[in-house]
Amino acid sequence: MNRTVHLSPPDVGPLEESYLLAALRSGWVAPVGPDLEAFEREVAARVGTRGAVAVSSGTAALHLALLGVGVGPGQVVLVPTLTFVATANAVAYTGARPVFVDCDPRDGNVDVALVAEALHRLRAENERVGAVVPVDMFGACVDYTALLPVCAEAGVPVVEDAAEALGATHQGRPAGSFGRVGALSFNGNKIITTSGGGMLVSDDTALLAHARHLATQAREPVPHYEHRETGYNYRLSNLLAALGRAQLVRLDGMIARRRVLRDRYAKLFAPVPGVRLLGDGEGTGNCWLTSIVVDPAQAGWRAADLGAHLAGHGIETRPVWKPMHLQPVFAGARAFLTGAAERLFADGLTLPSGSALDDTQVDRVLAAVEEFTTARAGATAA
Ligand SMILES: Cc1ncc(COP(=O)(O)O)c(C=O)c1O
Repeated sequence: MNRTVHLSPPDVGPLEESYLLAALRSGWVAPVGPDLEAFEREVAARVGTRGAVAVSSGTAALHLALLGVGVGPGQVVLVPTLTFVATANAVAYTGARPVFVDCDPRDGNVDVALVAEALHRLRAENERVGAVVPVDMFGACVDYTALLPVCAEAGVPVVEDAAEALGATHQGRPAGSFGRVGALSFNGNKIITTSGGGMLVSDDTALLAHARHLATQAREPVPHYEHRETGYNYRLSNLLAALGRAQLVRLDGMIARRRVLRDRYAKLFAPVPGVRLLGDGEGTGNCWLTSIVVDPAQAGWRAADLGAHLAGHGIETRPVWKPMHLQPVFAGARAFLTGAAERLFADGLTLPSGSALDDTQVDRVLAAVEEFTTARAGATAA
């Protein structure tokens, strides 16, 4: 019996084992230690920021990043409606309200013209906009050349949700470095993983120092446990940082493997009418997840039909994110919409994209896709 092919399973091997074992044997098991500091330095160097703070999840990184730019109660924060719930949840944790903005149908990234319109309208209504949080969707950067001037003109800080995008670039600049502060995720399904973890990256060393303080229960540097503000238990452990360091060494190789897979999907779907790959028009994404978008009128089938076919072959797929403005938890939240995210939710399908997939698994996925598209082409022709 063939094992299930998952979307993006962790890609770990002997290097991770050796780094973890070395950390364990060094005695620096918890909480902080030399691997944690080195991991922060190495990720900051990769992203090109002055510093970084390693935390227990990407969600925690987003939460502290929002607090760092002063987001709080009485404010609204612009968030793409097409994202994972963590982006909007982090806003809610601060007491601010998320306002959702629709996406560009080409890549699923936030619609920059709509961000400009939302900022204009909210300001006219005297709403206090605490931040804009662009998300580098599925590992491809937002068009920051267009977005950053819009936010600068409105005087609103950018918090970049680069949870999915480590290793991606826009105009040669690395994902994570575009806002006043960026958030990365090292969750198990991400491009690199610490099993669970995240990081704030920024040039603003004062912001980072305060985030580090908040991440460790806001404990003052005195022996008797003194606390002047509400902190969190958000710090990443030294052991997990060691795992992350090994993964970072392999990052470029893992991106290259995902790109080969994406290119094979591109070739496979090129002759299929009504199907396109979502995003990464610049070709500088990290190929975290590859999704297709199916126009059912042209293709003669729906994205979900292919999903069901692949599930029958033990191959995992997922719809593109269900938009936040359709989530019951955010019912009643304000949203600036064009319908693009809803269409991507209806017509998108995310395919197995992980660097850990071996050649046999990749061949199995491609053969199952081809079996489906060939049968459907025959059915349409008949
Ligand atoms: C866009 C986005 N933001 C935030 C997160 C949250 O990261 P984590 O799962 O590490 O908390 C994720 C992934 O899980 C994500 O995809």
